[in-house]
Amino acid sequence: MTTRHAATTFDVEAVRARFPALARAGADGRPFVWADAPGGSQTPDSVIDAVASRMAAGASNTHGAFSLSQEIDELIDDAHRAGAGFLGCDPDEVVFGPNATTLLLHLSRSFSRTLGPEDEIVVTRLDHDANVRPWILAARDAGAAVRWVDVRDDDVTLDMASFDRQLSERTRLVALTLASNAVGTIPPAADLVRRAKAVGALVALDGVHFAQHRAIDLRALHADIVATSPYKFFGPHQGMIGVRRELLASWEPYKLRPASDAVPDRWETGTQSHESMAGTTAAIEYIRALGGFDAIAAHERALATRFLEGVARIRGMRLIGIGDPERVDERTPTFAIRLGRQHPQETSAALARQGIFTWDGHYYAIEVFDRLGLLDTGGAVRIGFCHYHTLEEVDRVLETLEELAP
Ligand SMILES: Cc1ncc(COP(=O)(O)O)c(C=O)c1O
Repeated sequence: MTTRHAATTFDVEAVRARFPALARAGADGRPFVWADAPGGSQTPDSVIDAVASRMAAGASNTHGAFSLSQEIDELIDDAHRAGAGFLGCDPDEVVFGPNATTLLLHLSRSFSRTLGPEDEIVVTRLDHDANVRPWILAARDAGAAVRWVDVRDDDVTLDMASFDRQLSERTRLVALTLASNAVGTIPPAADLVRRAKAVGALVALDGVHFAQHRAIDLRALHADIVATSPYKFFGPHQGMIGVRRELLASWEPYKLRPASDAVPDRWETGTQSHESMAGTTAAIEYIRALGGFDAIAAHERALATRFLEGVARIRGMRLIGIGDPERVDERTPTFAIRLGRQHPQETSAALARQGIFTWDGHYYAIEVFDRLGLLDTGGAVRIGFCHYHTLEEVDRVLETLEELAP
């Protein structure tokens, strides 16, 4: 299948041929449908090669007096340059680490030292816990107050009036997701950052889910922090975060004494995964060579429209989130559903028996499921597509759901 749009032609079969895992099939010979893209993407050949070649070429620590060590220094510089292009910041504003959660906890611990009991932080009920709990712990340690932004019941978007109500001259930081990993909502980030900046707050964006689907530009958004995880955008398991230089220089990290105090090295504590850095650079290049996120978003729009139109026709189906195909640009192709009175785990297991892999539960977005009253009854089944999925796969998921419908 080929999706046509203004700038280029997106050849999804050529894309799929580059992902060895997509060729895996079940006992019935049908290829699996990896519909858990928000949980982690599959990996293209060039990223696999980059990781393997780095390991084959030799391992060494940094800043040694021999050529292999200098290769590693160069690889690290390359990864920072690639990350800067991807996040919309400078190379020394990119920090690598094991995953986004650990990096956000790392930053929040240092942020806490700048907070006092008179301060407030703002978190949302739409966010993954990785961009909620680290800031709550920071506030708790400093005796600062936590204020919550609510979501709307009908379409699970952020409640803008609630957002405005939480802001005041006491707000020191607003933590906000660029896209929900649970229901796919894309909040109007530029507008929300503007409102937060108007009261002088710092803004920490969770771009982990968003980065699989759309381009990030920290500078254009005028935000301070953006967290991503390359394993969600076709790279290896790693975390990558963009942080305004001034914060990296002024906040004091928990680090070892002999480690460099330069920015950003002072935040990259311990030895990094050099092979993952090589893979992340390759993943960023993979997206660029594909035509960037314009090409990706156009194909994903077709997938999301097909899913939303199809799901509306299934008996007993409840879609949690934006369901109107006209509003497809306000969401990613990640869908949370419940089928009749079936427990989400039962639906997910039934889909798995048909070779369709989905997740069920809360996927660490606990606040939103709690808010919607679904946390104690199994959350929802999450069906998540990305650019390597086909319309035929969407149809197969829809047909299987229809067979499972009450
Ligand atoms: C939206 C979102 N934020 C944060 C995280 C945590 O990322 P990591 O696994 O890199 O710690 C995830 C992981 O699923 C996520 O989906």
